[in-house]
Amino acid sequence: MAAFNAGTAFSLKDKVVIVTGGGTGLGKVYSQRLGEMGAKVVLADIAAKEGEAVAEGIVAAGGHALAVTTDVTEPQSVETLVERTIAKWGRVDGLVNNASLMSVLPRGDWFKIPLDEWDRVMAVNLRGIFLCCRAVYPHMKRQGGGRIVNISSGRVWNGQPNRLHYTTSKAGVIGLTRALSREVGDDNIGVNAVTPGLTLSETQLASSSSNYLGGQEQGRAFKRPQVPDDLVGTVLFLLSDASGFITGQTINVDGGQNMH
Ligand SMILES: NC(=O)c1ccc[n+]([C@@H]2O[C@H](COP(=O)([O-])OP(=O)(O)OC[C@H]3O[C@@H](n4cnc5c(N)ncnc54)[C@H](O)[C@@H]3O)[C@@H](O)[C@H]2O)c1
Repeated sequence: MAAFNAGTAFSLKDKVVIVTGGGTGLGKVYSQRLGEMGAKVVLADIAAKEGEAVAEGIVAAGGHALAVTTDVTEPQSVETLVERTIAKWGRVDGLVNNASLMSVLPRGDWFKIPLDEWDRVMAVNLRGIFLCCRAVYPHMKRQGGGRIVNISSGRVWNGQPNRLHYTTSKAGVIGLTRALSREVGDDNIGVNAVTPGLTLSETQLASSSSNYLGGQEQGRAFKRPQVPDDLVGTVLFLLSDASGFITGQTINVDGGQNMH
């Protein structure tokens, strides 16, 4: 084990980090901040134009980025994502499993959820994470370690209703995180989860009423809107060497709405 170096432990400079769903919303902000930190960012989004636009912005600002249009539910697509990452930068240090079906889902009665919508949510929010972890694993193992951050949701703590499939899938993310951390601990791969509270990503703003957004704030210790940058510090910390002995954990970031 290397001695702790406070000067470099929090640095992400030259780390190769894949962000799924990096083309819009919170993933876009994680990617932009990673770019500002000097990381080599891979934008893996099914939304091709959005992913490319974020990558171009990072490069225009002097950073390093690669957009690979990816459907995280498709094994071949995910394999191609990792192959292209390795071809360009030779390694993969971090993976942020952020892609999800959320803002596109209607809020409504649980017994009216169409079966195909239930299955699609599980495919993107859970199978997608499994496939991405499986694809980066041999490379992280070969390198002697890596960091995986899975994005869950604060809905899991209070059992928030009206998107039963979504909340169920995000609880699954925590189980996957815990079990996988034990599977890959001997390979020095850290696996953690983050549960964001309701956050004003561009897509959340477009899909939620002001009443709904305001109601969430009142339940917090910090009674203000949660913005994407409120999550950045935790995600970047979990990707860095500074969090090297943290694994299997779930960190709640919601301004003190749920005490976990
Ligand atoms: N915004 C919030 O209030 C909030 C709260 C809790 C958790 N989260 C979680 O944070 C993450 C980001 O949230 P957001 O608000 O930015 O959501 P979002 O809906 O804006 O972003 C999801 C991204 O995933 C991409 N995506 C969807 N299906 C994909 C697929 N099959 N393959 C690859 N990419 C795919 C979309 O194109 C989009 O860029 C999600 O995991 C979400 O569940 C968000």
